Amino acid sequence: MFNPEMSWAKRHLLDIQSLTKSEILTVLDTASVFKQVGQRAIKKVPALRGKTVVNLFVEPSTRTRVSFELAAQRLTADIVNFTTEASSFKKGETLKDTVRNLEALTADIIIIRHQSAGAAHFLSRFTKASVINAGDGAHSHPTQALLDLYTMREHKGDLKGKQVTILGDILFSRVARSSIWGLRKLGAQITLCGPPTLVPKSLESMGCRVTYDMQEALAQADIVSLLRIQHERQQQSMFPSLGEYSKFFGLNKERLKWVRPDALIMHPGPINRGVEIDSDIADSERSVILEQVTNGLAIRMAVLFLVNGGQHPQDLPACDLSVEA
Ligand code: CP
Repeated sequence: MFNPEMSWAKRHLLDIQSLTKSEILTVLDTASVFKQVGQRAIKKVPALRGKTVVNLFVEPSTRTRVSFELAAQRLTADIVNFTTEASSFKKGETLKDTVRNLEALTADIIIIRHQSAGAAHFLSRFTKASVINAGDGAHSHPTQALLDLYTMREHKGDLKGKQVTILGDILFSRVARSSIWGLRKLGAQITLCGPPTLVPKSLESMGCRVTYDMQEALAQADIVSLLRIQHERQQQSMFPSLGEYSKFFGLNKERLKWVRPDALIMHPGPINRGVEIDSDIADSERSVILEQVTNGLAIRMAVLFLVNGGQHPQDLPACDLSVEA
């Protein structure tokens, strides 16, 4: 049910920590409306007609880039996919100059993924366009956290008091950092587990519990969220081998017995099959991994709509395709 008391006045989405609980719930409720739009015969609404959205992905992506592209199309925006390989980045043009030029080409919303933490905040300081952070280094991935919260809430209702165990490479994970902020704001209890080199005790300062006892961490969970080993951000090997990691921290058939039958199994993707999760669990009915991806489309429609100043999504008419053609 859509809550008419929406709370959103932000031009950018840069991280989760600067959102209030009410703003997070506004994104989730708006996404519920857009998920219903996705179930209609005509899946397009004219909310961003005449607006230009640029997907500025300097780091690789499948789920985030494609779902932002589809989200913009479903809101009837014009969407441009900027590919680093075919751009003047290759000739040494700076990020700032690139964005100034995109702005001169009338970009209204710039979605940026970048390997450097702070890239989205940096852009937001000088561009007139709205900036959406699609992942910056190990810092933040706000739309991933929002789609994860959406999926958890869809299955488990109000997240207040729910036990969420996040397992794996927390230290280098922008998804973990964003999810922790979001879950705390919605009142969930968070346990972090993994090798001590990837889950240092200092993470308790974020309001989580850290344990290295996997059985205990799994047994209490309403939701288990597994994270990928992020080799690309690790400066050195943080454990002896992938086989060693899988042996002690991978979710396999034996360890699945420790997980409650009604607990959700989640993973933001991409999956390292056989490392953090066995294939038969990733592909089983226990896993909501592909649901997370589907919900990402509705969340990204909601975010594009809200940063563009949208209100009352439930009142949007379907696109008249005879006019669109
Ligand atoms: N989860 C996620 O961000 O996936 P991509 O890197 O494929 O976008």
